[in-house]
Amino acid sequence: MEKTYFDLIADEILEVMLSIPLLHEIADLNHKQLVLFTTQFYQFVKNFPRYLGALIWKFPDENIRFALANNLVDEVGGFAHLEKMDRTATHPALFRRFALTLNITEEQMNNAQPRPYTQKMLDTLDNLFIHSHYIKAIGGLAPGMESIFNTWIDLVLQGLRKTQRYSEKELLFFSLHTIVDEEHSEIIKVNLLDYLSDEENKKFLKEGAYTTVNAQKEFFLNLTEEIKTLTHHPDLAIHC
Ligand SMILES: [Fe+2]
Repeated sequence: MEKTYFDLIADEILEVMLSIPLLHEIADLNHKQLVLFTTQFYQFVKNFPRYLGALIWKFPDENIRFALANNLVDEVGGFAHLEKMDRTATHPALFRRFALTLNITEEQMNNAQPRPYTQKMLDTLDNLFIHSHYIKAIGGLAPGMESIFNTWIDLVLQGLRKTQRYSEKELLFFSLHTIVDEEHSEIIKVNLLDYLSDEENKKFLKEGAYTTVNAQKEFFLNLTEEIKTLTHHPDLAIHC
């Protein structure tokens, strides 16, 4: 099947993400480095449902809002958990389950502060999802994140599996995301087709996707710099 404009943008964005060396080197991180990776990446994980909420508010199309609501239900653990008000399977909770294997408690995760470079990424994403045109915002979410998350999070998953330190249950946040987000993105893609016959909308979609990926790339490169200091100074304390 011929690739759509949406697919072409997603391919470009994936290439940018895959060019980040850190994502290929997860198996080589020592404990302190992995703690830093986990506490900082968590800042993104815990904010992600808010981006969906902002887009549901912002997007004028009912079908897209329906798809985003479905996505949000998955973020809070799926319909069965939601119905029972069971919060143990929300995606941030699954991520905290992994963090616990590094001896980072739930309380420590909740109190973990973003580094300035992490905050910069969060500010960029807040601005994108709250203040940008709705096509730009969905560009940041769908081709910018969800179409490609399955591929690069799989690199993280494979790196963690390689260490043989974690059970599959502990790695559920990662293995789950090798599947779910791509499905979400496909539904959004189908519903965006009509919008993308318009040249200005195409431009917005691309701008949004690049805003996201550039913010994430800068975050990971800065994180890498700090991670390197933990190799040279193994006793340096991490304030998570
Ligand atoms: Fe998620």
